[in-house]
Amino acid sequence: MSGKREQWASGHGFVLATIGAAVGLGNIWRFSYVAGENGGGAFLIIYLLCVVFVGASIVFAEMALGRQASGDAVAAFENSSPGSRWRYAGWVGVIGSFLILSYYSVIAGWALKYLVGGLTGILWLAAGEGFGGYFNRFISNPGEPVAWQMAMLAATMFVVAGGVQRGIEAINRILMPLLALFVVGLAAYAATLPGSGAGWRFLFVPDWSVLLQREVYIAALGQAFFSLGVGMAVFITYASYMTRETRIPLFGSAIIVGDTLFAIVAGLAIFPAVFAFGMNPEAGPQLAFITLPQMFLAMPGGEFVGPLFFALLVAAALTSMISLLEVPVASVVHRTRLNRWGATTVIGVAVFAVGIPSAMSFGLLSGIQISGRGLLDFIDQTVSNYVLPLAGILICVYVGWRWDRSTALSAADLAGKSVGLIWLWLLRLVAPAMILLILFDSTGAL
Ligand code: TRP
Repeated sequence: MSGKREQWASGHGFVLATIGAAVGLGNIWRFSYVAGENGGGAFLIIYLLCVVFVGASIVFAEMALGRQASGDAVAAFENSSPGSRWRYAGWVGVIGSFLILSYYSVIAGWALKYLVGGLTGILWLAAGEGFGGYFNRFISNPGEPVAWQMAMLAATMFVVAGGVQRGIEAINRILMPLLALFVVGLAAYAATLPGSGAGWRFLFVPDWSVLLQREVYIAALGQAFFSLGVGMAVFITYASYMTRETRIPLFGSAIIVGDTLFAIVAGLAIFPAVFAFGMNPEAGPQLAFITLPQMFLAMPGGEFVGPLFFALLVAAALTSMISLLEVPVASVVHRTRLNRWGATTVIGVAVFAVGIPSAMSFGLLSGIQISGRGLLDFIDQTVSNYVLPLAGILICVYVGWRWDRSTALSAADLAGKSVGLIWLWLLRLVAPAMILLILFDSTGAL
């Protein structure tokens, strides 16, 4: 075990780092394609309900759990229940974030390739063959996606190895405000495009018939977990570097509001443009990589807006990857004699190796299909829609029921406040019930 544990330099730095964890590919790439596939406006409503009634209370619980730990994700459970099996709930987070990072880095690598391609102009040369062909040729290449994945992981490892204050906090302080500016600028630009109103309507005017489709509910729940970054001990770990003075309700709310606004504003950058150029919002995971370059090419100033968009995607991905890597690294530092550099190297290399099949899942390994999906898609859907919600239930039960009421309330800085009781009952009943209902319903069991 290492000596003195690191801490955030300030509450402000903690908030930016956690918003950095929450805002990522999930808000831009994943939100836009999942919302696109699931009908837009009606999906948005269910998504918001999932954020408010399920995700939010678990964010607070993870923070409460993490702050009292002053150790890794496993210690968060061990400290308050020594010797109990609850420590495995911590391991779920450690292994889960490792797994998410393994394929997340692949998509982050795609974004990096498009950024570099946009800046050098290589991307625009693909217009001739069509961006669909270009993208498919890229992701089916045996080596290239692996190389870009490696580049993103190397950058992530570099920051994490730098430590909590000088690595993670420092980079988030720079990138997060920039990111907010970028995305608002892009949305403002998209609003000026002729025909952009259809995109606003798509996102804000619900088509109620969508509510009859059961896949929409599980997609919204999974997206809420993924986008907030909840269920995989990221907030537990980040909160373990908090000082006692920081206030969980305030900081937790900032993250939830920030993440949600970010997804909506990103949607307002993407959908108006998609409609203005007569493209299909239901393009799926390829939306950001095929539809958008086409749009950038067609619009005035696209050579600049395009790289700006992909820079945004890369920056957002990086700060989330940092959070995902920090969870297992914190555990290794806490539990072995390795220092931060050593732990980062070992875990980073392992993540890379485990991610290679995902990177190849559109090329050499495209023959591997599990229930109709390629490897990367299958892992993403399974983790987001099932593993994250189930891990969320563990946190609900632990903080809501295993801790007594006053411990839980004071750990979350909610003692004596009326919202404290609302939080507690969301955590105890509403969130687990909604998760179970949606999971059972989507598997057809109801
Ligand atoms: N929230 C990030 C995104 O939207 C991804 C992420 C970071 C995440 N940490 C996580 C997802 C923990 C699930 C669990 O892109």
